[in-house]
Amino acid sequence: MPLFHNLYEVEEQARAVLSAQAYDYFAGGANDEITVAANRRAFDALSLRYRVLVDVSRRRLSCRLFGREIPAPLVVAPIAFQRLAHPNGEVASARAAAAQGLPFTASTFATTSLEEIRAASAGPLWFQLYVHEDRGITQDLVARAAAAGFEALVLTVDVPEIGRRERDERNGFRLGADLRAANFLPQAGGAPHAPSGGSGLASFVRRMRDASLSWKDLEWLRGLSSMPLVLKGVVRADDAKRAVDHGAAGIVVSNHGGRQLDTAIPSLQALPEVVAAVDGGAVVMMDGGIRRGTDVAKALALGARAVMVGRPVLWGLAAAGEAGVERVLSLLRDELDLAMALLGAPDLAALTPDLLA
Ligand code: FNR
Ligand code: LAC
Repeated sequence: MPLFHNLYEVEEQARAVLSAQAYDYFAGGANDEITVAANRRAFDALSLRYRVLVDVSRRRLSCRLFGREIPAPLVVAPIAFQRLAHPNGEVASARAAAAQGLPFTASTFATTSLEEIRAASAGPLWFQLYVHEDRGITQDLVARAAAAGFEALVLTVDVPEIGRRERDERNGFRLGADLRAANFLPQAGGAPHAPSGGSGLASFVRRMRDASLSWKDLEWLRGLSSMPLVLKGVVRADDAKRAVDHGAAGIVVSNHGGRQLDTAIPSLQALPEVVAAVDGGAVVMMDGGIRRGTDVAKALALGARAVMVGRPVLWGLAAAGEAGVERVLSLLRDELDLAMALLGAPDLAALTPDLLA
């Protein structure tokens, strides 16, 4: 018996085992969660104009990202506090990604330190950065990631302030006393435990990020390591151009899974203008609402090189630990493989805009 048949079923399984507070933190978005739903609707609104009588007897899903060949165009998105989902947290999800040969992106706010994640996984690792007001802390984090062999630095640019997650406010979200943001020393604020009322996440993030960060800081960031810089959270052509002008090697078109600015443009809708503006000058990826292999195919047909997968990884982790995350990733890869066969697309280059209606 497979653990689950699709990425919706595993969400139900996860929901059954998680506390309401943890489930709401994972599933929820900003305010009315209009963007959370719109990210999905954008995929469902596209129909597929499949080709017939193409030789699809051999299919190639592999793709190149920052000098490394990976077996499918899938990357595990950065997700904070994974030990809230399962005691093995980031170690389990990083190992699952490694087993599939796929990059795992460790969040700045991981509940496992980047060195422990490195020790647990021989697979490709990327590091997601939130810039701290104390630039020395950030410099140190980036140096640690580079020293540990992380292969890309993913700067998240859509969190100058934390969006209002009303579910977390209602639940008085906080981490248990046994969990902390393990990349930070406790005195640097690594413990979002016991705020007096409201969301502990909101007060934690306010302490841990710098709202003054701007384009002029990118040169400094690039100088901290030789990791390629990826900007995550771009949804406009002009910002995408500026990113390339400032030396970004990659862009993730993303609205943070609908958790930041509610009613923000769905990622899939923003993708074509970013692809056109970048014009091959950087690797364009996207995330937000990827739940089916056909979603991956649609994003690639619109010009994404690869996609990031967010919440489904958490659902797999909560439902069945490392095996659950492996199942999520392999299901998505197998669904993409089948979609390509039925689309008449033997390789990723054959996923072109004419397939969409
Ligand atoms: C996130 N996301 C996120 N992004 C980031 O850059 N750093 C982080 O620490 C987190 N943390 C985080 C926690 C949780 C619980 C969620 C659901 C999301 C955003 C994430 O990387 C990604 O952009 C979205 O999750 C993609 O949307 P889907 O796949 O969840 O629909
Ligand atoms: C979130 C932050 C931590 O989305 O990125 O919860």
